[in-house]
Amino acid sequence: MLISLYFVTLLVFPFAAALASTVPFKGCQQKVKESIHGPPPGWYKHAPAPKHDMLELKIALSQPRFPELEQHLWEISDPSHARYGAYLSKQETETLMAPHPETLAVVSEWLTLHGLAEEEVIHSSARDWVTIRVPVGLAEEMLDTTYHVYKHAETGENIVRTTSYSLPDILHHHVDLIQPTTMFARFKAFKSTLHWTNQAQPATPCPPGKTITGPAGNPVDASCNSTITLSCLRQLYNAENYKTTATNGNKLGITGYLEQYANNKDLQQFYLAQNPSAYGSNYTLVSIHGGKNNQSYKEAGGEANLDTQFGFGLVWPTPGTFYTTGGRPPYIPDLVYPKNQNEPYTYWLEHLLSQNDIPQTISTSYGDNEQTVPYAYASRVCAGMASLGARGVSLLFSSGDGGVGAGGADPATQLCKSNDGHNVTKFLPAFPASCPYVTAVGGTVNIPETAVSFSGGGFSNYFARPAYQEAAVSEYLAMLAPGTFKDVAAQAENFSVIYKGQESPIGGTSCSSPTFAAFVSMLNDARINAGKTPLGFLNPLLYSTGYTALNDITQGNNPGCGTSGFNATVGWDPGEFMKANRVMTCLHADHICSHWTRHTQLRKIEGLGLGLALN
Ligand SMILES: *[C@@H]1O[C@H](CO)[C@@H](O)[C@H](O)[C@H]1NC(C)=O
Ligand SMILES: *[C@@H]1O[C@H](CO)[C@@H](O)[C@H](O)[C@H]1NC(C)=O
Ligand SMILES: *[C@@H]1O[C@H](CO)[C@@H](O)[C@H](O)[C@H]1NC(C)=O
Ligand SMILES: *[C@@H]1O[C@H](CO)[C@@H](O)[C@H](O)[C@H]1NC(C)=O
Ligand SMILES: *[C@@H]1O[C@H](CO)[C@@H](O)[C@H](O)[C@H]1NC(C)=O
Ligand SMILES: *[C@@H]1O[C@H](CO)[C@@H](O)[C@H](O)[C@H]1NC(C)=O
Repeated sequence: MLISLYFVTLLVFPFAAALASTVPFKGCQQKVKESIHGPPPGWYKHAPAPKHDMLELKIALSQPRFPELEQHLWEISDPSHARYGAYLSKQETETLMAPHPETLAVVSEWLTLHGLAEEEVIHSSARDWVTIRVPVGLAEEMLDTTYHVYKHAETGENIVRTTSYSLPDILHHHVDLIQPTTMFARFKAFKSTLHWTNQAQPATPCPPGKTITGPAGNPVDASCNSTITLSCLRQLYNAENYKTTATNGNKLGITGYLEQYANNKDLQQFYLAQNPSAYGSNYTLVSIHGGKNNQSYKEAGGEANLDTQFGFGLVWPTPGTFYTTGGRPPYIPDLVYPKNQNEPYTYWLEHLLSQNDIPQTISTSYGDNEQTVPYAYASRVCAGMASLGARGVSLLFSSGDGGVGAGGADPATQLCKSNDGHNVTKFLPAFPASCPYVTAVGGTVNIPETAVSFSGGGFSNYFARPAYQEAAVSEYLAMLAPGTFKDVAAQAENFSVIYKGQESPIGGTSCSSPTFAAFVSMLNDARINAGKTPLGFLNPLLYSTGYTALNDITQGNNPGCGTSGFNATVGWDPGEFMKANRVMTCLHADHICSHWTRHTQLRKIEGLGLGLALN
């Protein structure tokens, strides 16, 4: 099949055929494709990489029609556009993601030249990624580079990387990037704290029945000011009585990486404690790139438990999907299987985009400092997110737990150094939250909600400020650099999670992403029941009209990098995000929101922000 496609390609494009027959790479100069100044802080060169160890190289082929795809995305995500909600099919999206046939032919010729047979070359569904397995020695020859084992000073992790690689001149405009080469990112789970409650007493210090006034003016259990439960979130965001549907096709996806496993026994114990009707229900497990979900208590993941318990618990009986994607350091030398992959998003994206049926809403609580992700890789992953958006998927990402960067407000201890050799102090935004095609979710704490100090957010150093943010950002400040992120926020402290059989409070923007995603999923549920399309890529809606349904956070800041970070203000701000730094409150801005299922009420909430999204 691959072979026949190859020949079709050659017949249709005689130019490529001519290239293929004249050994185009002979005498062709290798030119540096990408180089970085050095490994990011924390990594040091340990030893040359063993030549026979296997590497799984992923080659991103250029996508000449991506600007068209992006144009579709803006139109179909813009509530004021006639095409709002007219999402693309898998096939339409893939046509716009596909490389030029000439690119496929030239790259194929290059791989053949290095002894790779067609059947050893794996193509993604849109044929925009090529995957090969080669020994380090061959990769070094192909990329005119030398790989080393790099070690992380703090954690002892080993990875095989290089700081520069080259490609034949002729390949440069056909290939966007090849990894693993220059990418040192260690995608972290964004749960900032994980404390055990060793005491057996319940974590609620308030007498039952005591209430305080929530942000929507409604009474909320007083205990919610210190411990967050499913019930607290439904009260706070005013969806207490909203009943989701099990069978309308709506789904919520939660991603898991880095051997974070969602423990089913913990999940059932959590349901019993916080949503007994969900007890006995389960989620669909999807394993990508060898991802596991080991059910031993020893292997339970705090992050995975938090994300699945709160995400699936809030939307039950909406079906949940948990994606477990394999691949992480430490690097273990192995002749057969490459084990040092740490580029989970490409595997995950490739899988998702190859599916016909994708959950409408997906939450991810992982990321790393943008500067540890090479620009070429970041923009390709970000393009993959845009492709999911074009298919009508809402992607929510935790904004990160380092405030504007590492090390707190004290200039003496701050750790925000640039990775370009100059060691200048700069804010360190998180990726993929900084990608303009996803919705970044920051954190709040207490009632009334205050920006939580660790909440990430700020200004991307890679991506220009998207048009949808223009008005909001220039209101906040006319001074700082372009490329901002962003978007929304929700509670992020003291979530009562069951972990290894114990109630354990967890904090972090890891809490707020599945929370916000769950409420978006509820909105999608209401829309699907009303015969409407799902919300898709949220930001153009949120920044134009949707913000009016959200609650403005006006207090708090996110210190880091030796500064006090960004202050929450009236209106949008980068610390707490959203055109107006708002929390999800259609969901609490008005009691009417809690009765969406009734048609009369549906019409009423059209007067509200996210209600407008129901149009
Ligand atoms: C919630 O807790 C915070 C921090 O302890 C406190 O400042 C605030 O007044 C409390 N809110 C209410 C409504 O009691
Ligand atoms: C988290 O919960 C603990 C125990 O109930 C409480 O002492 C603490 O103040 C809470 N933290 C916040 C930020 O509410
Ligand atoms: C839940 O689903 C997972 C994966 O599909 C399965 O391994 C597990 O046994 C199920 N758990 C329960 C309690 O049904
Ligand atoms: C699951 O994890 C446990 C504890 O680490 C280990 O002993 C067991 O072999 C693992 N099971 C599988 C199927 O990998
Ligand atoms: C930057 O910092 C690194 C690590 O702290 C140090 O090794 C290097 O010499 C510094 N470079 C400059 C230009 O100050
Ligand atoms: C934030 O507010 C604090 C206290 O009011 C102030 O000292 C600081 O300068 C403000 N920061 C910015 C960036 O506006």
